[in-house]
Amino acid sequence: MAIEQQKELLSDAFDIFRVASRKLEKQYATLEDKVEELNTELAEKNRAMERTRRLAAMGEMAARIAHEIRNPLGSMAIFSTLLERELTEDEGRRKLAESISRGVKTLDNILSNMLLFAASPSAKRRSIDLKDVIADSVQMTQACGKAGFEIVHNGSTKMDGDEGLLRQLCVNLLLNAVDSMDSLSSGGVVTVTTSVDSKGPGGMEMLEISVADRGRGISAENLDRVFDPFFTTRDSGTGLGLAIVNSVVEAHSGTVQVTSKPALGTKFAVRLPRFQQ
Ligand SMILES: Nc1ncnc2c1ncn2[C@@H]1O[C@H](COP(=O)(O)OP(=O)(O)OP(=O)(O)O)[C@@H](O)[C@H]1O
Ligand SMILES: [Mg+2]
Repeated sequence: MAIEQQKELLSDAFDIFRVASRKLEKQYATLEDKVEELNTELAEKNRAMERTRRLAAMGEMAARIAHEIRNPLGSMAIFSTLLERELTEDEGRRKLAESISRGVKTLDNILSNMLLFAASPSAKRRSIDLKDVIADSVQMTQACGKAGFEIVHNGSTKMDGDEGLLRQLCVNLLLNAVDSMDSLSSGGVVTVTTSVDSKGPGGMEMLEISVADRGRGISAENLDRVFDPFFTTRDSGTGLGLAIVNSVVEAHSGTVQVTSKPALGTKFAVRLPRFQQ
């Protein structure tokens, strides 16, 4: 082969080599970027895992403390109810005993919410009658404000549900409704309505519970945030009530909707599949 021809071949080979090595360089740079990206992602995941571990530990501790507080609180509830009964003749003192009962109920609700929040509930669904759960919840809430209650059941209230969780759901909705009307001197009325329909996914039978008040309402900007844990506009609120409502609804594969008009009132509508699939 002539020398010229050999030189040409050699220069072609060099060209090919240059192109290939440039490609390799680029791929190496891309790989380096990818490794850095993955490292950052890993560090973030590690931080999140550490946070979750710490939160879980805090949740466990909160649950243990809550259980410890529950026992003396139970005794206080019994004694203040006994006192209320004994003081039927003495209105001034009876009112004092009533306010102890009210305080105890509020504390008990905060503890129940905290325990549920720490444990993220799973529903143990059994055959129950929601009208009993609503009646219990109304009774538990009655002492906490001046509001009256109107309860309307349209059709059956039998369903498969977790009684304890649904009671906690109802109590939280009722307490919020009562609280929203607290500034009304006449108290106001909370309306609880249940109804059955077959408008669930695939025609599934649903039980709807709605809780409506004519209280202060929720501003448009707050409406998106009311279900966020720890969101509260109340001085003594923990902001866990509706977060619990939401997780109880989720544990029953249901939905919850809120409609509200400031100064006119609020309605929460919870829809739950009536029977377990
Ligand atoms: N029926 C209602 N009427 C007016 N505002 C409401 C009503 N229900 C909820 N809200 C608003 O949503 C916020 C969050 O409610 P949520 O029940 O989660 O917490 P909270 O009532 O503030 O405190 P907690 O229930 O933990 O004691 C309330 O602070 C209030 O601003
Ligand atoms: Mg609340």
